[in-house]
Formats: sequence, structure tokens, C-alpha cells
Amino acid sequence: MFPKNAWYVACTPDEIEHKPLGRKICGEPVVFYRGPEGAIAALEDFCPHRGAPLSLGRVIDGKLVCGYHGLEMGCDGKTIAMPGQRVRGFPPIRRYPAVERHGFVWVWPGDPAQADPAKIHALHWAQDPAWAYGGGLYHIACDYRLMIDNLMDLTHETYVHADSIGQKEIDEAAPTTRVEGDEVITSRFMDNISAPPFWKMALRSNHLPDDQPVDRWQICHFTPPSHVMIEVGVALAGKGGYHAAAEHKASSIVVDFITPETETSIWYFWGMARNFKPDDPALTAAIREGQGKIFSEDLEMLERQQRNLLQWPGRNLLKLNIDAGGVQSRRVLERVLAAEQGAAAGGRDVAPEAAA
Ligand code: FES
Ligand SMILES: [Fe+2]
Repeated sequence: MFPKNAWYVACTPDEIEHKPLGRKICGEPVVFYRGPEGAIAALEDFCPHRGAPLSLGRVIDGKLVCGYHGLEMGCDGKTIAMPGQRVRGFPPIRRYPAVERHGFVWVWPGDPAQADPAKIHALHWAQDPAWAYGGGLYHIACDYRLMIDNLMDLTHETYVHADSIGQKEIDEAAPTTRVEGDEVITSRFMDNISAPPFWKMALRSNHLPDDQPVDRWQICHFTPPSHVMIEVGVALAGKGGYHAAAEHKASSIVVDFITPETETSIWYFWGMARNFKPDDPALTAAIREGQGKIFSEDLEMLERQQRNLLQWPGRNLLKLNIDAGGVQSRRVLERVLAAEQGAAAGGRDVAPEAAA
């Protein structure tokens, strides 16, 4: 179960640069491409002629041309032309609201009437030249909520990421979780510890010594439907930790957009936004490579966990205090889903009367 009346990251602009992209989002097969004047278009990935996926076609002059028999589709879901045929009676296909913003293409798989671009997740760093961003995409065969659990409880770093960002002090510093409206925030602070390898690299990149004790923090922010932004960093010990002045610390934001493909698979857009040395593309590439390696370590764990859960659906799972971030995030999601379903049911009740 996932909210449908929400903006999800569908793809990055480079994925639709040369050809249309077919991608299932929240159970809906969608084709993304650039229509007239380069605007993002998102349609049902289904040709009204014989049901071929339109994503196997080509974009010519902003029109999506079916790769099977040449039907020309407009970005409003209405057929424009087809060689040798009259197209007026062709049934339209579904159009999805889609917007390009903050370096991503966003799609709204639910009720188009409610799709307000002002509700797209704000990324304050996206247009700020003081920040740099690098990231990637993984397809993972797991329920999107397992990834939210994973990101809202970083205790797993000690075990899953032992060689990079894990360290035993993570286990020893208990996280605290609070809920502010629909946002869940889990924080962990580790003072006077030695920096793990990834952060030693970041300190050196920031012209700071990597052999001195540091204060380290991880502050995970969940917001529905499935965005997790994690403020992470280290400061030389005793300089104020999270609040230390910029010259004493290396910090960044781990960016996680989790888009359900099906009930048990996700498109996982991961990345890191940093506000040190933003003009250094080699550093962006090095961080991206390091992060990609670290996040690939979660992939196997989550897919195997999902398989276990499918095999033994009745097994009770434990909820420990380290799980509070994920548990609270699921509660927010349940609330959002209940509201969405309540509104849909209410709408259905009203409809026959309104029609009468
Ligand atoms: S299936 Fe698309 S044109 Fe025939
Ligand atoms: Fe992880």
C-alpha cells in the first residue's frame, strides 16, 4: 500500500534525453518523454491500437510515435494520427501530471485534480551554487517501507557498512525520535570518537586533519510519501558538533527518494548534497562512487529480508527502541493512506447523488 496522491521522483532528466522511458510507478506503467518545447510528458505506457508499450517508440517533433505501427500520440493522451487510419474514434489514454524540478522528474500517480506542483518536496540546496549534488538509482526488490525502516535506523551501519561508515559507537549512542506533524525525525549524536573512513576522506577534502577525535551526527528526516533526508557530518571534537562553524566540520545531506514500483519493489534515488568544495567535480564523483558502494550493501540485505517476509508472512517482528524512526514513519503513512482512502470513499458516496 502506498499513497497515490503524492509527488514521487520518476527519473532524472538524462534518462529521457534521447528516447522515451518506460517505468512502472506505484503499479502504473508510465512512459516519460519530452513533448513539444521540451516539456515533460507522462502517459500510460499503452498504445490504444494494440496495446504495445509506447516506451518502445520514438519521439519525433514532440510527438510520441508508437514503435509497432506508427500511431502518433499527443502529450494529452489523444491520438494525433496513424498512417492510413482515421483516428477520431481512438480512445484517449491516461495522462499523468509530471514536472521537472530540482534536477528530477516528478510524477503524481493519483487523482490529477489534486496535483499541485507547490507540494513538490522543497530542496533548498538544489539551486544554490554553494552546494553540489551527486547521486544514482538502484532498483531493489523490496517493499518501500523496508527502505524507510533502513534509513530511519542507522544502527545497521555498524554491521552492513562495517568498512566505510560503520563503527561500534553507533550502537552505543541511543537515537531519539520525535514526530512533528507528518515529519519524523530520528537523531543520533556521537561525541569524541574517531572518524570512520568515509568521513576521514571528507575531512581531508575539507582541509581538516583526519586523525583527531570528532563529534559525529546523523539526523534522519522522513516526510511522506517516502522521502528521507539525512543530515550527516563530523566536526573536530569540542567545536560545537552539529552547530560547529563551517571551518571545523564536514557535513552533507544524504538524499533518498524512494519510489514504489510494485508492492515489493522500488526505484531508489540516492545521492548526497554537500556544501563544501562544491566546484570540485572529482570530489563529487569520488563521493558518488563511495556512496554507491555503501548503498549497494543495503540492497542484498533488503531483498533477502523481503523474500523472508514473503515466505513467512505471519511471523511477528520485534519492535525495539532503535526501530522507533521506522515505526513512527509507518504510522504517518497509515494516517496519510487512511485520509486518502477516506476521501476516495467519500467521493464515491457523493458521486451518485451529484450525478442524479
Ligand atoms: S500497437 Fe501501437 S500502432 Fe499498433
Ligand atoms: Fe545502509
